[in-house]
Amino acid sequence: MATCKVAPSLLSANFANLQRDLEMINHSEADWLHLDIMDGVFVPNISFGFPVLKHVAKYSTKPLDVHLMIVHPEKFINEVRDLGTYMMNVHYEACLHLHRVVQQIKDAGMKAGVTLNPATPVSVLEDIIGDLDMVLLMSVNPGFGGQKFIPNTIKKIKDLHALMERTGAKPIIEIDGGVNMNTAPYLVEAGVDMLVAGNAVFAAPNPELMIHQLRNC
Ligand code: DX5
Ligand code: ZN
Repeated sequence: MATCKVAPSLLSANFANLQRDLEMINHSEADWLHLDIMDGVFVPNISFGFPVLKHVAKYSTKPLDVHLMIVHPEKFINEVRDLGTYMMNVHYEACLHLHRVVQQIKDAGMKAGVTLNPATPVSVLEDIIGDLDMVLLMSVNPGFGGQKFIPNTIKKIKDLHALMERTGAKPIIEIDGGVNMNTAPYLVEAGVDMLVAGNAVFAAPNPELMIHQLRNC
């Protein structure tokens, strides 16, 4: 039995009952709380923004893992920091000056993660991976919860391990999209550190038990 860390994604929570769902996560074995910010431009959906997250952050006892699916994420570094964020993830595809953005995130006192869409190869990280605290591989096209896992992600995890070996870089590897009890064992076997799970957790009859099971799959 392998173990892996789990970051439940609030995107699949009941937004009319966020306090209840946050208390469930606080009480669970979840390692981080994953927060998906969408702008309707970078991705074809809108989720929640800072007025909501300000309150969410106050209730959460878990480290915040903020995933920005927006254009110009560099404009919001201070807002993300003010939430008390531990890990700020920006998309490679959204950053023209990725090196600068990564340094700005670190200068703001947060860990820096870079996210890759399913069609973006791991090789684009060659010259930045040494600066990264985390690489987040999307295993669905970003924008929605409850989508089907893209199997090519397993190959990309292997590519990422090869790049890490070659460069000596040791970022955390996080996977986001379509993670459930069917896909998680393959991800753990491929060597990931952190699983994001939205639908699998919140559609489960017992979400807290599902978090436990994903951590021990
Ligand atoms: C999708 C988001 C995910 C989403 C995952 O764009 O980045 O974090 O909540 O949802 P599931 O686990 O349902 O695929
Ligand atoms: Zn996400």
